[in-house]
Amino acid sequence: MRARRIGDVSVGAIGLGGMPMSIEGRPDEQRSIRTIHAALDAGVTLIDTADAYHLYADDVGHNESLIARALATYGGDTSAVLVATKGGHLRPGDGSWTLDSSPDYLKSACEASLKRLGVEAIGLYQHHRPDPKVPYGDSIGAIRDLLDAGKIRMAGISNANPAQIRQAQEILGGRLVSVQNQFSPAFRSSDPELELCEELGIAFLPYAPLGGIGSAGRLGERFPAFEDVARARGVSPQRVCLAWMLRKSPVNIPIPGSSRPETILDSVAADDLELTDDEFAALDAP
Ligand SMILES: NC(=O)c1ccc[n+]([C@@H]2O[C@H](COP(=O)([O-])OP(=O)(O)OC[C@H]3O[C@@H](n4cnc5c(N)ncnc54)[C@H](OP(=O)(O)O)[C@@H]3O)[C@@H](O)[C@H]2O)c1
Repeated sequence: MRARRIGDVSVGAIGLGGMPMSIEGRPDEQRSIRTIHAALDAGVTLIDTADAYHLYADDVGHNESLIARALATYGGDTSAVLVATKGGHLRPGDGSWTLDSSPDYLKSACEASLKRLGVEAIGLYQHHRPDPKVPYGDSIGAIRDLLDAGKIRMAGISNANPAQIRQAQEILGGRLVSVQNQFSPAFRSSDPELELCEELGIAFLPYAPLGGIGSAGRLGERFPAFEDVARARGVSPQRVCLAWMLRKSPVNIPIPGSSRPETILDSVAADDLELTDDEFAALDAP
């Protein structure tokens, strides 16, 4: 797979989103491990996770632990794999998602993620989502402290608007390496953040790139332009979608979620799908 950059780290242009392997509808562990191993075999070197990707109150960090086990049991070299996790969201176990971005909480969450991932420093730690109860600068200040303490190698943010991206970049002293926001054919309103990332030379990680877990399978039905290109090329509309994102910006590194080897392998093949100018224009039209 061709490479893109997050900070000074080179990663495959298509990453793997871990969420479907740990929340509602998650598969058994064996299938998840096969999925992660298939991704690694195919050249995936970015795996996105979060401490909040779990289901029950007592399995916090399910996805981080799963990824750590998958890396430990992989037969090949995993030294180039960047695991990107997040802190600031919680799941009390009733299906809801809650927030805590107080500095003390973020620091304790990072310590717990370090233990689950079994590393001395987290490759990429992302602030998950702004918490209205906490000044944004205080939350990002905690991320800066984690960087300065060597607990995390690189810092990213998620669900941030352009003003928050600029504020984070300032607080981190120019060390912000990534922004992870929702972006898909169904959700295109992250264009200003994508453009700002290009301007600042920061990686943009589109999340829910296929429309999210419940809708990804119907991408072609919902967006005829993607279905038309897919039919003409004899590939899936999901692969066309990811090829569109790669072509749209050199800082885009999509992280499609997967819980089956077949889907991540189909997604990785987007790197080989060169769209024509006409195809790109049809897909990119609002
Ligand atoms: N920062 C945030 O606030 C935030 C929020 C949401 C998600 N995320 C991250 O972004 C990642 C991606 O988002 P997402 O998982 O919610 O949604 P998504 O990537 O849009 O959709 C995931 C679903 O797409 C299916 N899929 C993947 N590749 C496919 C292909 N080539 N053909 C057909 N179906 C395919 C998978 O099905 P199978 O399960 O059957 O394999 C999976 O369940 C998450 O896993 C997570 O890491 C971050």
